[in-house]
Amino acid sequence: MTDRGLHDQIVARTEEYILPLYKRTPLALVGGSGVWLDDADGQRYLDGLAGIAVNALGYGDSDVVAAIQQAAGGLLHTSNLYYTAPAAQLAERLIGLTPWASKVFFSNSGTEAIEAALKFARRYAHNRAPGAKIGLVSCTDSFHGRTMGALSVTSREIYRTPFNPLIPGVAFLALNSNAAAIAEVVTPATAAVILEPIQGEGGVRPATSAFLQALRARCDEVDALLIFDEIQCGLGRTGAVWAHTASGVAPDLMALAKPLGGGLPIGAVLLNAKAAAALSYGDHGSTFGGNPLVCAVANVVLDKLTAPALLAHVASVGAELGAGLRDLGERFDAISAVRGRGLMWGVEFRDIPAATVVEAAQRAGLLLAGAGPDTVRIVPPLIISAAEAGELVARLGRAVESVVDSGAAPA
Ligand SMILES: Cc1ncc(COP(=O)(O)O)c(C=O)c1O
Repeated sequence: MTDRGLHDQIVARTEEYILPLYKRTPLALVGGSGVWLDDADGQRYLDGLAGIAVNALGYGDSDVVAAIQQAAGGLLHTSNLYYTAPAAQLAERLIGLTPWASKVFFSNSGTEAIEAALKFARRYAHNRAPGAKIGLVSCTDSFHGRTMGALSVTSREIYRTPFNPLIPGVAFLALNSNAAAIAEVVTPATAAVILEPIQGEGGVRPATSAFLQALRARCDEVDALLIFDEIQCGLGRTGAVWAHTASGVAPDLMALAKPLGGGLPIGAVLLNAKAAAALSYGDHGSTFGGNPLVCAVANVVLDKLTAPALLAHVASVGAELGAGLRDLGERFDAISAVRGRGLMWGVEFRDIPAATVVEAAQRAGLLLAGAGPDTVRIVPPLIISAAEAGELVARLGRAVESVVDSGAAPA
């Protein structure tokens, strides 16, 4: 079969048999190495998306491959009715990396980690004021997932409306509100406040340290739990192990997922002692959560993602990438803002849909995705070199130029 034939067959089968919930790019990926991806037509792309902030170690990492091969020869699954070494070791390492945390719960995805965190917070509140302390506060432009609980604290109306009624008692607070606005929304009836220290899907919007500190103070005042969603911004993405550390604020609960399994599905919730003390047998569970194969691989991934040399690399290449993107912002009027930290960046466009830039970038050999309607998100593998980051900026520049030249936007 020709490469084009392979491509067409993959696309046709997908369209025929998989529920069409995703707006897919007509690109069938067949392999990759480092930060580069190959399609079925033999084209090579620079990956600026990393499977939506999952493939932090890129493609073909030899330690990850070896860990999978080794773990595949052992127990793949046991259920949580027994003890296994890889889960115990992974939990110990996560706690060791997180000074405020004392317990871990393992799930299979980010959304499930959010569901668990919301339930844990409700359980804590139930112990204090049964039926009275049920409110949840989330932020505008938030994204926490698609299941009913996670969707209830996700702000975008088009995701929510077809599934109403969602869980009651959810209020939305503008990101980076002041203390007075926080006090109006976070009340003694609030069980928990949930937010991403750097919003991902909502447009790569960092929460300010002042906002996180004010939320912490208000949560303490009204005995609400503070939940950080570091599913996208955590585990080295900002050049620190956790995105929230720079703010000096510790949450009560934190959700993780995306890069932790090196591409295999795993999520986790970290809890402080106060939150953990509220939970007991039977409050929550998962058949697959913490399964030995994924945890064995996650142990290797975690070591690599938290190595000081990798974190320093992310900080320095991230700063260069940010400077390059800001230069593009100077060059093109069509760019209205450049936001981000480490290797998590959003480039916002005026008068051009993000999807138009994403398509042009693909034609220039660069894979990206939108974050909201007018922001293009750049979350490459954390192993991207300075030269590759420069190439990413050059390709994005060519893409923006082609969109501007086509008359679709201001120069
Ligand atoms: C911040 C954040 N929270 C939650 C989720 C949901 O995670 P998952 O898709 O693994 O269920 C995502 C996914 O994009 C996310 O970025």
